[in-house]
Amino acid sequence: MKKIAVMTSGGDAPGMNAGIRAVTRTALSLGLEVVGIYRGYQGMIENDFIPLSHESVRNIIHRGGTFLKTARSDDFRTIEGRAQAAANLKAHGVEGLVVIGGDGSFTGAAALHDEHGVKVVGCPGTIDNDLFGTDYTIGYDTAVNTAVHAIDQIRDTAASHNRLFFVEVMGRDAGFIALRTGLASGAEAVLVPETTTYIEDLTAKLEKNWKMKKSSAIIIVAEGDDAGGAIEIAKKVNAKFEGWESKVTVLGHIQRGGSPTAFDRILASRMGHAAVLALLAGSTDVMIGQKNGEMVEVPFKQAVKHHETLSKHLLDLVEILS
Ligand code: F6P
Repeated sequence: MKKIAVMTSGGDAPGMNAGIRAVTRTALSLGLEVVGIYRGYQGMIENDFIPLSHESVRNIIHRGGTFLKTARSDDFRTIEGRAQAAANLKAHGVEGLVVIGGDGSFTGAAALHDEHGVKVVGCPGTIDNDLFGTDYTIGYDTAVNTAVHAIDQIRDTAASHNRLFFVEVMGRDAGFIALRTGLASGAEAVLVPETTTYIEDLTAKLEKNWKMKKSSAIIIVAEGDDAGGAIEIAKKVNAKFEGWESKVTVLGHIQRGGSPTAFDRILASRMGHAAVLALLAGSTDVMIGQKNGEMVEVPFKQAVKHHETLSKHLLDLVEILS
């Protein structure tokens, strides 16, 4: 293998730049040529390639977002789009591809492999932590820290005004961000898609806290919760609970940005390095994961469409400590 390509795809995640840097510098150190592809699969289809050198990835390890940019490509969902993308890879002499992205990106990577024999390895880059076979995805730790910081500030105002806050966090169909954020911020309750939310239980808990003369309460709502988003859940609770005045905050895309934590930079550096070694060793159609601190390879088809089990122990801990 003489030349590889690297790209970022799907929703951006803090630490993607550190991943691109690790892929580029590992490959260069092993005598390979490296090209970057702008805007993920869309750029692959539109032939948006750029040679990468040691200098191209200088001073990016600490930057959020992705300097290669990213996209969610509808064209790549078509057979013609994927054929064009594979033809462009071939025309550039690319013999191996590293995709840094999430569920949709790896579904696409598996299709490129199956339909066109592209040798491809993935690094999990998503704030959602929703890929099977890895304990952590790149960007998750930063997103949790960002959310915790925001909720610390909300707590100040919640306590000053004696208010109840419903704070919605991202995570798509997974409750990982909500759970860790809730535990770290001392939330009164965490609502996640993995367990059924009963509004009656929630209001009973709030009544209890109200009677205990707690000054305020914070409920973390994962955006994919079965009872709805924070706005919907607040309405349902307000109809039954007459304690604190309530407010809703949707944290939104602030969770996607910002300088990556040291944890995410190290994870991305290790995964990017491992991805290049995996390609050189002949692996393909796999994602690099981190399991019990070690780098592992997980077939794309196992990694996507479902995720690791949310820790029951941590869910219980939120209850015990609130
Ligand atoms: O997958 C990352 C994520 O931020 C999810 O948590 C969220 O549901 C989604 O992307 C938002 O996507 P977009 O930025 O395209 O609105």
